[in-house]
Amino acid sequence: MWSVLLMYEKEFIGGHIFDGSIANLKFAYDALTRTNNEFVKTPIENGEILISEEPFSSEKYFLRVNEIKYGGNAAWALEMAREHNYFEKNRDLSDEHENPDEPFRAQREEQRFNIAECEILGVSRENGFFSARTPISVFSRVRKLVPQDFDGPLQKTMGDLKIGHLRSGSQVLSLEAGIFKKALSTHTFITARTGGGKSNTMKVLNGVMLETKGEVSPLIFEPHGEYIQDLKRHPLQKERLVIYNQDGRDGDNKIKIAYKRVTVDSLMNIRKQMRWTEPQERFMTEAQAVLRDNWFQVLVETPYDEEEYFIMNGKPFEDDDMGDLQDFVSHLGKGTGSKPKLLRDIFRGGAHIDTIKATKSKLQRLARATFLVADEKQDDMEFIIGHLLNGKGVLVDMASLSGLQELFLSSLLTSEVLERQKALYKKDRKGFEEGKYPTIAIVLEECQRVLGKGEDTEGNVFRSVVNEGRKFLLGLIAITQQAKLMDPVVLSQMNTHIILGISDETDFDLLKGRVQKSIKNLEMDINQLMPGEAIISSPTSPFALPIKIFEYNQYIENLKRKIPSTTTSSNFSLFT
Ligand SMILES: Nc1ncnc2c1ncn2[C@@H]1O[C@H](COP(=O)(O)OP(=O)(O)OP(=O)(O)O)[C@@H](O)[C@H]1O
Ligand SMILES: [Mg+2]
Repeated sequence: MWSVLLMYEKEFIGGHIFDGSIANLKFAYDALTRTNNEFVKTPIENGEILISEEPFSSEKYFLRVNEIKYGGNAAWALEMAREHNYFEKNRDLSDEHENPDEPFRAQREEQRFNIAECEILGVSRENGFFSARTPISVFSRVRKLVPQDFDGPLQKTMGDLKIGHLRSGSQVLSLEAGIFKKALSTHTFITARTGGGKSNTMKVLNGVMLETKGEVSPLIFEPHGEYIQDLKRHPLQKERLVIYNQDGRDGDNKIKIAYKRVTVDSLMNIRKQMRWTEPQERFMTEAQAVLRDNWFQVLVETPYDEEEYFIMNGKPFEDDDMGDLQDFVSHLGKGTGSKPKLLRDIFRGGAHIDTIKATKSKLQRLARATFLVADEKQDDMEFIIGHLLNGKGVLVDMASLSGLQELFLSSLLTSEVLERQKALYKKDRKGFEEGKYPTIAIVLEECQRVLGKGEDTEGNVFRSVVNEGRKFLLGLIAITQQAKLMDPVVLSQMNTHIILGISDETDFDLLKGRVQKSIKNLEMDINQLMPGEAIISSPTSPFALPIKIFEYNQYIENLKRKIPSTTTSSNFSLFT
């Protein structure tokens, strides 16, 4: 009791509630505070969280300062200011006054006070944290926040993936906060202006997900090559994160995806970039129906006619020339006695020659991607899915790929993960509900490219993840610089928002209408955030939670101290 009292006295800042409403409480405090007989400005700042304890119950009100005004009589203050102007210009008091430049600047601390306007973030009671339905009693005291204020039920709302420290204005508290593992399957949105700290946030979050030792498996699409080196310094990387790249350098795996994984559906994710025409789409669907798994390889590798055969093989076409592809298409010839080996023959009477040729040339362009291989024995998909189901993270470095290839590869992988999770759910629904399987979190940078406003919605796998992922424990972590470029529907399906500094008014207004916990009074605050300072809003956060994200290097240093170098085994040994 004594120590609590002591803390209270120390933190007490002398404010008292005097006016306002539930929506906008006002308290008055001395603008100057005397410490060691010297006056200093009372350290209360905009955005700061303060506590007011109700004298007539055990309730604690959490307040956030939204505005600070000068107190006192405005007319009197105006006259004072004018007097200062006058004397500085017109009167020479050098002979009469010991401090001739400041004859009227006596401290007069009792006359200097400020009025802070606050919103009530909520009321902490013994059994939980609630929104305020009554104002706090007038003249209640207002004091600084201390970490102990979060003891009890509020502590449980701070998340189990801690990515930063709680912040009160620009002051960083010692209390850690973050998001919930469970919330990952209802999607996370990270946004900031350039340099606001998105990548640092994502690196920390990736690191923290690896720390769950199998409860969360991140599938990280790495477009700029900025995470890899940092994640390699993570003490659990070797144990918990498998890295794929495009050329097998640095001892990492070269990613290989078999032609067979390419489906017409997967190509619809790059519809805009490939400019598929309707006849081309129809033709591909027909080809897939006829040639099944082999459709992509057959279209890419089979000459259309004799002329193309000559160009591709450097020799004239002979009818008895049995290529490898013959095996794929031989079943088509059953009963007719002829075995087609030219596309023209397979699709006789079907699509127009121009359609076939144009489609083929587009597919050939795709087939040149370094990650595609004809040989299905080399395919990595099973390993990748296996790692994820086994609670391991997978990072795919795509820095050397073109935008189109990058999108194609990420769609191929995401489609497969979604399909597998769906199938697994069908087989073992109970297992999903009982927490037998890890949550898979797909990390997507520059997400507006695939989830942008006016993007084709049909067949877009990332949209399917956003729509259906929750049930299958599959969530998206979407990162973008500009919320306004995002599809508003997608934005509203994101349940957790991590908002770092943003300056764009349109971005703010959009987010304001979409977030789970109100940020409507935070426009200036969010505008002023320094790199790494953020607001977290999720259904489970008690209010829009101000935090300072860990700086990644610092996070790693602390983690190395916490985690002994010996590796520990997974909680999820079920697939090993
Ligand atoms: N939590 C943090 N603590 C301390 N410094 C930080 C933090 N987050 C970011 N910074 C600083 O801000 C810089 C920019 O951060 P970061 O690269 O994460 O921003 P970004 O939003 O990804 O930028 P871009 O839009 O250019 O990709 C970092 O190099 C670092 O110096
Ligand atoms: Mg970045």
